Amino acid sequence: MGRPDLPGVGTSPPPRPCYNAGHGSWHGSQRHKLLLRTHVNPPAGQAFDQLAATLDARGPVVLPALLLCDFGHLAREVERLESAGAAALHLDVMDGRFVPQLTYGLVVVEAVRRAAKRPLEVHLMVEQPETCVEAYAQAGADILTVHLEGLTDPRQTLKTIASLGPRAHLAISPGTPIDRIEPYLDVCDGVLVMSVEPGFGGQAFNPVALAKLSQLAALRSQRGDSFRLGVDGGISTETIGAVAAAGAELIVAGSAVIRSHDYAKAITELEQLARSAV
Ligand code: DX5
Ligand code: ZN
Repeated sequence: MGRPDLPGVGTSPPPRPCYNAGHGSWHGSQRHKLLLRTHVNPPAGQAFDQLAATLDARGPVVLPALLLCDFGHLAREVERLESAGAAALHLDVMDGRFVPQLTYGLVVVEAVRRAAKRPLEVHLMVEQPETCVEAYAQAGADILTVHLEGLTDPRQTLKTIASLGPRAHLAISPGTPIDRIEPYLDVCDGVLVMSVEPGFGGQAFNPVALAKLSQLAALRSQRGDSFRLGVDGGISTETIGAVAAAGAELIVAGSAVIRSHDYAKAITELEQLARSAV
């Protein structure tokens, strides 16, 4: 029996715009206004400069991912992580379409911005990220990380992000080879190499990331680029030394920090292992 005729079935959906916090309106519709605080001061780039100084002075840093934290006490979790020595925080925005899971969006990023003193990396795992970058910049991202796999015009989106203030980082999933990212390295402030399939915390580390980090580090010195290298997924005391030795500087750790009883002990131990491997 055939499927009943449903509106939109079999046709591509129209672009789904994100709320544009800067202009206080939805693209195309004023009906559902989401009042969001905006954060333009201090400029996002300035916060990143502090992080860059830490990297240069101390070597690789661990960015705790909030994904598995207690969202019922979000401000307290942010405070605990920062007092534990986190140099920056990593926020996983998932839309339930680009990846299966739905996490949180602008309202939560903005709330973390208010609670946090350190820079925020916002990792957008969403379809059509180019429609959201302005809103996330104004919600307080210092680094905006977009997936190559979700972009129609990576160069333009990276340039747009940079013009909005945040550092523009490009993420690649485990199945994406380095030659796909190479044409955009000149407009990347950073590359985030995924060492798990994006979408869930607590997965096992995929060693494919090690070769990619080494390749990217070699390309960077050959080309004279200055993008930062990050890695995300499956980081633990067992794996952090290898990613740091391969060139990772911004090392995202979710479960290894959040599932520990003592955030300071976990961050310190991970960073010591990373720094001693460089
Ligand atoms: C996965 C996310 C990661 C995740 C990391 O899609 O991008 O940031 O939170 O979690 P762990 O460190 O547990 O793999
Ligand atoms: Zn992430």
